[in-house]
Amino acid sequence: MASKNKHYISIKESREIIKYNIKQMKYYESLKKRKANQDEYIVPMKDSNNLIEIDNLKTVFFTDNGTVMSVNGVSFEIPKNKIVGVVGESGCGKSVTSLSIMQLVQAPQGQIIEGEIRFNSDSLQTNNVNQKLGYNIAKMPTQEMYNIRGKDITMIFQEPMTSLNPVFTIGYQLDEVSFVHKPGVTKEEAKAHSIEMLNKVGISMPEHVYKSYPHELSGGMRQRVMIAMALAGNPKLIIADEPTTALDVTIQAQILELLKDIQKKEQCSIMLITHDLGVIAEMADYVVVMYAGKVIEKGTAQEIFHNPLHPYTIGLQKSKPLITSSSQKPLYSIPGQVPNPINLPDNCYFKGRCNKCCEKCNGKYPKEIKVSDTHYVSCYLYEGSEE
Ligand SMILES: Nc1ncnc2c1ncn2[C@@H]1O[C@H](COP(=O)(O)OP(=O)(O)OP(=O)(O)O)[C@@H](O)[C@H]1O
Ligand code: SF4
Ligand SMILES: [Mg+2]
Repeated sequence: MASKNKHYISIKESREIIKYNIKQMKYYESLKKRKANQDEYIVPMKDSNNLIEIDNLKTVFFTDNGTVMSVNGVSFEIPKNKIVGVVGESGCGKSVTSLSIMQLVQAPQGQIIEGEIRFNSDSLQTNNVNQKLGYNIAKMPTQEMYNIRGKDITMIFQEPMTSLNPVFTIGYQLDEVSFVHKPGVTKEEAKAHSIEMLNKVGISMPEHVYKSYPHELSGGMRQRVMIAMALAGNPKLIIADEPTTALDVTIQAQILELLKDIQKKEQCSIMLITHDLGVIAEMADYVVVMYAGKVIEKGTAQEIFHNPLHPYTIGLQKSKPLITSSSQKPLYSIPGQVPNPINLPDNCYFKGRCNKCCEKCNGKYPKEIKVSDTHYVSCYLYEGSEE
């Protein structure tokens, strides 16, 4: 592999990388297509109140420059009926984490190489020692994942225009969800269900929208249609990846309000990915802060907003523009750059940018410290304050 601290790759190294990548990609692709025994991907949940438990997840991309560690040992939980907000700067691995949950990481380059994503499915019971069983999505063959994706776990993307097919009507695309997930459903039943979903997301003329094409709708309406589509299979988890970034501010507020409403009414969980700390503060019950492919702090919204511990979380909050801030003062920004995800250092990834860095920080990557039952931080400053 390319040696560390080098800014170029020799032809020999490049050949070695390509050879290594082909071997790895073939191996992981073959795992997905294998005829697996159910014991290989049905595992006990740590807590039956959790809907999703992500445990030491590692998702990488095998690129011509080397292996990109996009998600590098991420662990967090999504409890049932709760909203979990995931924040962090661009490229920290938020989307790749969510795509891993959906088994939608761009293959063959992108692969989950380690860890578990346990999904607490209602279709599974308990084992002989009374532990609730779940599916380990990280090890599940693609064929089995079709029963979960789009039904139990759905996703709303940032830009609805690219997710909707421009050549089919909204009705056609909504009915499709019923046809895929409810075998034997008639055309009339599918239409009635689609209209009901459009009603649920606050579309006032659902019959009219049902017959429309995506380009005939406004951005806000299209995002409502995407939410209707996500709801059509009665999901347990909705992953919303920057659902309002492409919309203007007033429509943003409406869509967020709608998501919050739906979460309560439908009794599902939401994983909300955003850059916007204000959105997280309004919506989330729990917050996960990511940095360079790792979770550096997680806790309840109260803990993260009123008692942020990690210097990066503190910096993030300081860099949030406030209506009361003086317009003369420049906005706070965290100096420095994120380390290269191909050649990650052995110590704290935030070290080069941290204003609280001390002697201890030269040591290995800091381990996760439990500050309360729900609050965890990876930083040497809190060594000795474990619960
Ligand atoms: N298809 C790909 N090939 C190679 N690297 C990729 C690919 N997709 C993502 N990555 C890398 O994985 C890392 C995490 O990307 P990800 O899209 O999860 O970031 P993000 O936190 O969602 O950022 P943003 O806030 O900009 O959406 C980045 O370093 C990115 O360059
Ligand atoms: S471990 Fe050290 S360098 Fe890293 S965030 Fe904490 S104080 Fe800063
Ligand atoms: Mg993203």
